[in-house]
This record gives sequence, structure tokens and C-alpha cells, in this order.
Amino acid sequence: MIGTDIDQAKALLKSGEVVGIPTETVYGLAANALDEKAVAKIFAVKNRPSFDPLIVHTADVRAIAEFTRHLPDKAKKLADAFMPGPLTLLLPKKDIIPDMVTSGLEQVAIRIPNHPVTQQLLKELSFPLAAPSANPFGYISPTTAQHVEDQLGDKVKYILDGGPCHVGVESTILGFEGEVPVIYRKGGLAIEAIEELIGPVQVREHSSSNPQSPGMLKSHYAPGCPVILGNIDELIKKHQGKRIGVISFKDQFTTIKPELNIVLSEKGDFTEAARHLFSGMRKLDKLQPEVILAELLPEVGLGRAINDRLRRAATEAE
Ligand code: TXA
Ligand code: MG
Repeated sequence: MIGTDIDQAKALLKSGEVVGIPTETVYGLAANALDEKAVAKIFAVKNRPSFDPLIVHTADVRAIAEFTRHLPDKAKKLADAFMPGPLTLLLPKKDIIPDMVTSGLEQVAIRIPNHPVTQQLLKELSFPLAAPSANPFGYISPTTAQHVEDQLGDKVKYILDGGPCHVGVESTILGFEGEVPVIYRKGGLAIEAIEELIGPVQVREHSSSNPQSPGMLKSHYAPGCPVILGNIDELIKKHQGKRIGVISFKDQFTTIKPELNIVLSEKGDFTEAARHLFSGMRKLDKLQPEVILAELLPEVGLGRAINDRLRRAATEAE
């Protein structure tokens, strides 16, 4: 059921249930992060492999010290500047965080969502929330409560509706290898903004085998038909005769029916494009095209996160 009753969400979470929650990036599937049984339900509902760890969500920067042993200077700077916000920090965990949350890893992923509804929820709860994106494993992340209802509605008792997500792609994940800051997932906080504050960072590209951060699996965010990246005019010619869906950055393609052409941002704005990406992919997927043709954005700012999601949508599962 979808609703806006924070008390109901709170009561369910306190009794060890999973609840859909809004964040500024994407909707999450939340449970008490300190309760292994509740956390196990997240993996079951999502059909998520147990080796893929969960992000722990908490209300404010001060709470980070409760769950982590050490906050490097650069992490502190980032936390002060960008939290709450679309940034997740990988930090050495304290024992209070169950191994199931981190899939046995020594580090825990911590995030402070910037959404008024979930902020209130977290402030009123006495425990943090473990939450992955609220989609079945491997599918497109949800950016509205209805998206969650469509796919997980029969398995989740309550989905807290906070409206459409403002950012629209998941948080940027940053950890440290020794002293070196490393980005493990490009996301809603632009790498340029991070580098401006703490200097150069390394960026790990995803790999299909033995991923360090399993969200780096190559195939992800996959709609029901093949996604092909390239020059859309050329691809349309090549796929003539098929029912074609298009995801373009700014331009509408006149040979494609308007409902089958998702334009991410007519004015070419990266923030708007990110906000429309997953909902656009879902809309197209519902219309069951035989193939989706998409173009990459310039590799700057949020364009990098958008391109990462498009590339992974275009990769066939191995
Ligand atoms: O924006 C977001 O981050 C959303 C909202 C709901 O907060 N959450 C999200 O969660 O995207 P999820 O589970 O779909 O993706 C989290 C990624 C996964 O790729 C996971 O492998 C990685 O974070 N991760 C979580 N904990 C980790 C850890 N301890 N070490 C390495 N990677 C970790
Ligand atoms: Mg996810």
C-alpha cells in the first residue's frame, strides 16, 4: 500500500518489517539496520544475492561516529559539505553493524538522505535504516512510490510516498584505499564537486567479475529489450521496420512516435536529464519496444553518472 503516514511506516519498521522510503536519489527498501532478521527480509524481497552489501541510512552527520571507527579528514570534509545529499561514504564499521549488512566486509556504506519525509522518519527512529534501491535485483531503480508498488507491492506492506525523486540517479559512492579517495559508483554528486573540495580522486570502472562494489556489476538497470548506444540517426536507419524506442538527450527524432522517444532534457540540462532517466526507461519498457536506441551525454558532471547507467543498461547479462 502507498501512503504518506510516517507513523505507520515507523510502526512497521519497529516491528522488523520492510518499508519503501523516498530519498532524493531513488526510492529505498528499508529495514532496521541493527536487526539481522529485518535485514534478511530486504534480501528476500529484492531477490538480492547476499554478497551485495547494503547502505546504512542515518539522520545526520553526528550519527556517523556511532557506526564507524574512523573518519579520515577528507571524509569529514565531504560529510560536512555534502551530507545530507547524494553521497555515500565507505568507512570502517563498528561491531554494532551486523555482518549481514556489509556482506562480511570491514567497511560500511553510510548515507544521509536529503528528503524531508525520510529525514523525519530517521530522526524519530532509534535505529538506522539499511536500504538498497527498491527494485528487483538487476532492474531499473524506482523514482516514484508507484514504481515500487508496481514491482514489489505484493511483498512490501507499506510504501511511504514522498513524491518523485529530485536527483533521479543513485548516490555517488566514495571510499579510501590507504589515503587515496576512490569513487566506486558515479552518482548524483558530481565528481568535479568532490575534487574541488578534496583534490583528485580515482574512479574505479565497473567489472563483470569479482566486483569490489557489487553495484559495479556491468549489467544492471536492464529493461526487457536490448539497449543499443550510439548515433541515434544511424541506429534508426539500421533498425528500420522494428518497433523502436529512443532515449535522447535534447532532440526529438521525427521518425519516432513521440511516446516512444524519451527526451531527457529539451534544454540540455544534466540535472533534469538525470531526474528523467529511470522514469523514462520504465515508461519505454512498458510500451514494449523491440529495441531501445540511446545516445551518451558529454562525459562531465552528472553526464558521467547518466552514461554509466546507460552503458550498464546496454550490457547483456553474462
Ligand atoms: O542513492 C542511493 O544510494 C540509494 C538510496 C536508496 O539511498 N541506494 C542504493 O542502494 O542505490 P543499492 O543497494 O541499490 O546500491 C548500493 C551499492 C551497491 O552496489 C553495493 O554493492 C554498494 O553500494 N555497497 C554497499 N555497502 C558496501 C560496502 N560495505 N562496501 C562496498 N560496497 C558497498
Ligand atoms: Mg540498486
